[in-house]
Amino acid sequence: MSDFEKKILDYKNKLNTTKDLEEVESIRAEIFGKNGFINLEFKKMGLLSVEEKKNIASNINKAKQELLEIFKIKSSEALDKDLNEKIKKEKIDVTLPEHEFKVGKVHPVSQVIDEISCIFSEIGFTVEEGPDVESEYNNFTALNTPENHPAKDMHDTFYLDENMKTLLRTHTSPVQVRTMLKGKPPFKIIAPGRTYRSDSDQTHTPMFHQLEGLHIDKDITMGHLKGCLNYFIKEFFEVEKIKMRFRPSHFPFTEPSAEVDIGYRVEKNKIIIGEGDQWLEILGCGMVHPNVLKNCKVDPKKYQGFAFGIGIDRLAMLKYGINDLRSFFDCDYRWLNHYGFDPLDVPTNYRGLSK
Ligand code: DAH
Repeated sequence: MSDFEKKILDYKNKLNTTKDLEEVESIRAEIFGKNGFINLEFKKMGLLSVEEKKNIASNINKAKQELLEIFKIKSSEALDKDLNEKIKKEKIDVTLPEHEFKVGKVHPVSQVIDEISCIFSEIGFTVEEGPDVESEYNNFTALNTPENHPAKDMHDTFYLDENMKTLLRTHTSPVQVRTMLKGKPPFKIIAPGRTYRSDSDQTHTPMFHQLEGLHIDKDITMGHLKGCLNYFIKEFFEVEKIKMRFRPSHFPFTEPSAEVDIGYRVEKNKIIIGEGDQWLEILGCGMVHPNVLKNCKVDPKKYQGFAFGIGIDRLAMLKYGINDLRSFFDCDYRWLNHYGFDPLDVPTNYRGLSK
C-alpha cells in the first residue's frame, strides 16, 4: 500500500468513528482546505512525467470522490444528531399549567344577548334560532309583506340567487314563521341572531343583530305587550323607573303596530337612560297580523298575540356607552379588552346582569 493510499484509509477510518459535526468539518478542512491534503498531493505531481501525472491524478480524483461521498453522509448524520439533541432539550410538557394566563373577553353583543335571554326566560320565554340564509317566503311573503314593499328592494336586501328566492335574512322575524310552522300554539319565544341589509355608516353595518319576540296564546292583548316590554326595559337598563312611549307605526306583519321610544337626557357627554325630554327609538312591535297567523297554520279566531323586534347592537351601545357601531365588528383586541366582559361572570337575574 502506497503512502497516499494509507493516508486515505486513515481519513476514512477517522470519519467513520466520529459523530461530531465540528470534528467532521475539521477533517474536511484538513483534506480539502487550500493547503489541505488533496491540494498538496496535486502540487507534488509537478515534477513527474505526463504518463505518471495521468495515473496519479486519476487516483487522487477517485479518492476525492469517495471522500466527498463519505462527507455527505457524515454531515447529514451529524446534523440529524444535533437536531435530535436540540429537540430533546426543547421538549415542552403541554400538560404543565400556564403561568401567564390570558383570559379572553366576551363581546358586548354576546353579553347583551345573554342579558336579554336571561330577562325573558324569567317570564317564561324560550330561545329559538333560525338560519341566516332564508327563503324569500319566510322573510317576506309569510310575514304579509306585499310584493312591492320597499324593504324588498334590491338595495336593501342581499339576494343570493337571480330569481330572488333565497336571501340573507333582513330581520329575525322569519323565526316567528319557522316556530309557528313547526309547533302548536301557545308560543312564547325570543330569537336572537344576525341580520343583513345593504347599509353602512356610523349607525348601520351590513350585518347587525336583532332579537325577535313572539307570544301567541288565547286572549293576549296589547296590554300584555306593553307590560312585557316595560318589564324588559327596566330590567335591561337596571333602573327602577323608565320613561317610555309607544308611537303608532306600520309593519306589514303586525296590526296595530308601534315603535317604542325611551326617554333620555345627556349630562356631561353621557347618556342618562330613563329620564329627560329626549326620545330614542329602540324597537318595533305590534299585534301579530291575522294573515301571518293564517300563513303559519294558526287559527286567528282562536289565537292571537304580540311580536316585537329589538336592535341588539343599539341597546349594547346605549347601555355600555359605545358610540360607533362599526367598532363592534373591527375585531380589535384592544377594543374588546376595554368593552368586553369577564367570561366567568355570566349574567343572572338574581346576581345582577352586568355588575
Ligand atoms: N322586523 C322589524 C324590522 O326589522 C322589527 C319588528 C317590528 C319586528 C315589529 C316585529 C314587530 O316582530 O312586531 O324592522
